[in-house]
Amino acid sequence: MNLDQIFDSRHSIRDYQDKDVSYDLIGELIDSARKAPSCGNVQNWRFIIVKDKKKRNEIAAASLKQYWMNQSPVHIVVCYDDSNIKELYPKLHEEFSLLNSAITASYITLKAIELKLGTCLVAVFDKNAVSKTLKLPSNIHPIILITVGYPKGRHKVTKRHPIEYLIYFDEYGFARKKRDASIFPLQKQVQKLTDKIKKGLKK
Ligand SMILES: Cc1cc2nc3c(=O)[nH]c(=O)nc-3n(C[C@H](O)[C@H](O)[C@H](O)COP(=O)(O)O)c2cc1C
Repeated sequence: MNLDQIFDSRHSIRDYQDKDVSYDLIGELIDSARKAPSCGNVQNWRFIIVKDKKKRNEIAAASLKQYWMNQSPVHIVVCYDDSNIKELYPKLHEEFSLLNSAITASYITLKAIELKLGTCLVAVFDKNAVSKTLKLPSNIHPIILITVGYPKGRHKVTKRHPIEYLIYFDEYGFARKKRDASIFPLQKQVQKLTDKIKKGLKK
């Protein structure tokens, strides 16, 4: 599978088979997660692997009662440790920790595809309740829950905005105001450049 195939295959999975995910596979997920970039390479992410049924149910309850989460045999709770990063980045430590956590979480969701696993990110939850369930010390903050399991049945495929809706050139609003048809779609532009280069090479 190349990277684009992996991107195209990742969808939030909320229906799971009643089948355990081995610690070997979970290890592979975390091994990929730890390769993510982090500010100043602080790597202040921590991962709590939750298989315990009662604890998973408490986590689902703390996540606005999203009990579909119970179907997944594993929850990976992505947390950050604020103990050292506070000194390194006194003003930005929280923002950086959130970014670090989000990036590492997306690595997990993408690696899961390669392993034929499904995931769903859940970020709406009562942090105090989850911290209590997981007995987290005060320096460890839960940020994102990831349900992990083998997908069951069909899943919803969500749409994406077209590229021209998302990007601007040099300053915000520029492309939209100009509506320059020669710029979009971007692929056409790339094709034009490729043709130009090819022509140049033939000369
Ligand atoms: C920060 C964040 C929080 C999310 N929280 C939830 C959630 O609480 N419950 C849920 O079912 N999905 C949640 N999702 C999944 C999104 O709904 C999903 O990614 C989005 O609808 C796009 O669908 P896709 O992941 O299938 O491409 C969350 C995703 C992100 C990035």
